[in-house]
Amino acid sequence: MGRHRMKNLFENNRYWANQIKSEDPLFFEKLARQQQPEYLWIGCADSRVPANEIVGLLPGELFVHRNVANLVIHTDLNCLSVIQYAVDVLKVKHVIVCGHYGCGGVATAISERPSGLIDNWLLHVKDLYHRNHAMFVDCVDDEHRVNRLCEMNVTEQVNNVCHTSIVQAAWQRGQELNVHGWIYSITDGLLKDLGITFDAPGQVPAVYRP
Ligand code: CO
Repeated sequence: MGRHRMKNLFENNRYWANQIKSEDPLFFEKLARQQQPEYLWIGCADSRVPANEIVGLLPGELFVHRNVANLVIHTDLNCLSVIQYAVDVLKVKHVIVCGHYGCGGVATAISERPSGLIDNWLLHVKDLYHRNHAMFVDCVDDEHRVNRLCEMNVTEQVNNVCHTSIVQAAWQRGQELNVHGWIYSITDGLLKDLGITFDAPGQVPAVYRP
């Protein structure tokens, strides 16, 4: 059974590659030479939030980093390396932090059930909830609370991207770079712009500027 399913993935892959080549015979040859994505996507690892598909972009058009709850942690060398390469080398023009409603990571962060190692990663979300506890007092239920925290988490991670030495340096040298906060709804497949775009160091508190 498991073996059969794995085989399906390779069949799917050949079908997919042929589909693309039927529309553009040189597609993969051209891509093999270079990538020039305009966008960096920082999203949740959730299987229901497939970055390229949601925004209808082909291979080569979206540089992607995903982790549980779309976190940008100040000292996470994995995420920082992705941001640095995207900004300094690929020169992407847009960084998109995209959260999603009903995020299991966010829900786990405020639940009382232990989930193992992941609880430590999600402490960043728990901290955010704890620091802003007053903003959740009118939430009618857990779903409401989780979804509000999902939005707040996107805002927090957008700020974290802007505070990195990488983004600060890019803005200092006059490089065009926009950092956006979006949220995706797994119930209808639609994206929402949270309206928190940053494109200049002046929008960031002075203490974070070089
Ligand atoms: Co999630």
